[in-house]
Amino acid sequence: MKHEKKVVLITGGSRGIGRALVQGFERAGYLTAACATSRESAEQSGADLSFQCDVSDVQQVKTGLSLVQKRFGKIDVLINNAGASGTNSLDPETDDNLWHHIVGVNLNGPYFMSKYALPLMPDRTGKIINVASVLALKGVPDQTAYCAAKHGVLGLTRALSHAVAPRGITVNVVCPGWTRTDMAQGRMQELGLTEESLKTSVPIGRFIEPSEVAQLALYLASDLASGITGQSFTIDGGVLA
Ligand SMILES: NC(=O)c1ccc[n+]([C@@H]2O[C@H](COP(=O)([O-])OP(=O)(O)OC[C@H]3O[C@@H](n4cnc5c(N)ncnc54)[C@H](OP(=O)(O)O)[C@@H]3O)[C@@H](O)[C@H]2O)c1
Repeated sequence: MKHEKKVVLITGGSRGIGRALVQGFERAGYLTAACATSRESAEQSGADLSFQCDVSDVQQVKTGLSLVQKRFGKIDVLINNAGASGTNSLDPETDDNLWHHIVGVNLNGPYFMSKYALPLMPDRTGKIINVASVLALKGVPDQTAYCAAKHGVLGLTRALSHAVAPRGITVNVVCPGWTRTDMAQGRMQELGLTEESLKTSVPIGRFIEPSEVAQLALYLASDLASGITGQSFTIDGGVLA
């Protein structure tokens, strides 16, 4: 059954930026679908439809999308937000599992989701929004997998925007800097730093709130942004300025 209301699918909707996206789009009148790594965590999203789906697994992506199709009949907006970070070692004695995991979630995920969601998206109004990072725009030494994957999301966004432009579907990417979520908390612990000390390196003097990323995504999903495609939008409080 097709719905009159617009439908948004948000990957990684259980926590952090993803949950703020679910809340923001719900308030804006969308029907919301969200996935996460487990059914229990997905339910934390509060979305109208929540389901387990590991975005790095193409079979799970296909199964998840079939649930959205069955419930809503279409996807107007796809937000590839699910992400995983970590410090992958360059020591030749270590295995490459973390590399594959990080690239799998952050890069293969948006590719699989976009590829198999596109047939469900309407011509002229469909929108894909990827969530990358400031580490799509600069490198840091201990995050080669995360940086490579997020730079890849930028390339995917640009190429895909050309591929789907004839259908009138737009593809854009948002690049957050330090945003107050579990992921940022984990990274700070890894670095042995606190928000208090780190925020002094942010020109606006504070971290980004997840709801601010949601506001940017809401604009990119709106008719106001129909002429914008293949672009990246940094939301980092001025760090990369
Ligand atoms: N926070 C920052 O400072 C920051 C900065 C730059 C970019 N970002 C990017 O912003 C996005 C959201 O990050 P966040 O800070 O909100 O992260 P977060 O708090 O760690 O939440 C990550 C979300 O992704 C989901 N997820 C992880 N692996 C998944 C998988 N294989 N399949 C499906 N879902 C998966 C998690 O689900 P579970 O709850 O089930 O684990 C959770 O919903 C990510 O792409 C991240 O790289 C964040």
